[in-house]
Amino acid sequence: MKRIPEPFRIKMVEPIRLTTLAEREKALEQAGYNPFALKSEDVYIDLLTDSGTGAMSDSQWAGLMLGDESYAGSRNYFHLKDAVQDIFGYSDFVPTHQGRGAEQILFPCLVEKMQRERGGAQPVFISNYHFDTTAAHVEFTGAMAINVVDERAFNTEQPYDWKGNIDLQKLNDAVSHYGASNIAGIIMTVTCNSTGGQPVSMANLKAVYQLAQYHQIPVVMDSARFCENAWFIKQREAGYQHTPIKQIVSEMYQYADMLTLSAKKDPMVNIGGLCAIRNDRPLFQVVQTRCVPLEGFVTYGGMAGRDMEALARGLYEALDEDFLTYRIKQVEYLACRLKKGGVPVQWPAGGHAVFVDAKKMLPHIPPEQFPAQALCNALYLEAGIRAVEIGSLLLGRDPVTGGQKSSPMEFMRLTIPRRVYTNDHMDYIADALFEVARKAETLSGLTFEYEPPVLRHFMAVMKPLSI
Ligand code: F0G
Repeated sequence: MKRIPEPFRIKMVEPIRLTTLAEREKALEQAGYNPFALKSEDVYIDLLTDSGTGAMSDSQWAGLMLGDESYAGSRNYFHLKDAVQDIFGYSDFVPTHQGRGAEQILFPCLVEKMQRERGGAQPVFISNYHFDTTAAHVEFTGAMAINVVDERAFNTEQPYDWKGNIDLQKLNDAVSHYGASNIAGIIMTVTCNSTGGQPVSMANLKAVYQLAQYHQIPVVMDSARFCENAWFIKQREAGYQHTPIKQIVSEMYQYADMLTLSAKKDPMVNIGGLCAIRNDRPLFQVVQTRCVPLEGFVTYGGMAGRDMEALARGLYEALDEDFLTYRIKQVEYLACRLKKGGVPVQWPAGGHAVFVDAKKMLPHIPPEQFPAQALCNALYLEAGIRAVEIGSLLLGRDPVTGGQKSSPMEFMRLTIPRRVYTNDHMDYIADALFEVARKAETLSGLTFEYEPPVLRHFMAVMKPLSI
């Protein structure tokens, strides 16, 4: 497959160091066999996340120097406001410290709106797939988080263009089951992180929005990777081949009422986020009211002026089609090499990461012994690469029964930061994973030494089981 050279020159470098196997064994043991607890200096290639790990451009760095750090009415806020209006078409917004800042402000307001306007009493949010912190914020409001993604997403071998789509039948069934008046919001995650950075089609966005409008349910676009989603629409959906990415984005956002955005992904800033609302002043006013004590005054909401400037610039850079082509093709290149070499991966590849199917690669390790976590640890020992588990460990226990929730997938996510690693790094990653694959049968599962009660994957202390 064709390699696309990086569409940038490197102006500054950050050295990384490959440790010895003995050093890595010690580091992993000290980390309680949980890559989240590793020191980043003990990591050679860091694929834990694409969040806040991108490289800013010279223009973004220059923007930092133009920060206006006024408490209220910073000029950078107005630059950001113009960008938000221009790109999404939403005039009302607050900056937040990151995506979850937007979630913690917005979701309680949506529950209250539902109670006030539609008389619902038992709040539910429905999503293609709630990201973990998104589900946590939904549950903090006392609501249930229901996922209704198309089942085809869970068959990693069978290609399907839209593994992020909402299954419309499942959505209809969920609305009837819980009652439209109890649905506080439909959260459309673009791209759908949890199923592999998989896109949602424009047709699906439109159909979901029509259904939501019929029932008067607000639609929230969880927008972390909105440009990557638009790129997939351009590539795969009839009628968009000649449409500029910005125009596709503008159409996508006509099929939502509001958005939360983690600016740490597509817009390539190290920290930041926002919450924007299209056409609901009363809702926006309560959002502003909650923003002040939780995030900060409404014209900075958790961000420094300089960071708002970098974000205003990053939003446009993220829309650049040449960049997006290189970016997504780099991920695809890694996925292709792995697939050709017999490593099972979610197919087709997603926008921001390659999801390795650990269930298939390590069939001898049962879900309750966390096969994808075992794979992450093996890859770290092999080559100093840090990946992340997206499976049973992340999913956790049912809050009511206390039993392990059943995860449809056991993924190891190789998340590719933006503009950070070259194609040579991709080859190194693939070669390392082939080595691990050769030893697959010798790998063993894990058990807990300490299991935190919530969001356990971050702080868990584990130990390998002997085989
Ligand atoms: N929504 C999605 C789809 C996400 O992927 C994330 C973060 C968030 C919301 C929350 O945003 O981190 O800025 O508060 N995802 C990161 C990841 C952490 O590694 O996938 P945040």
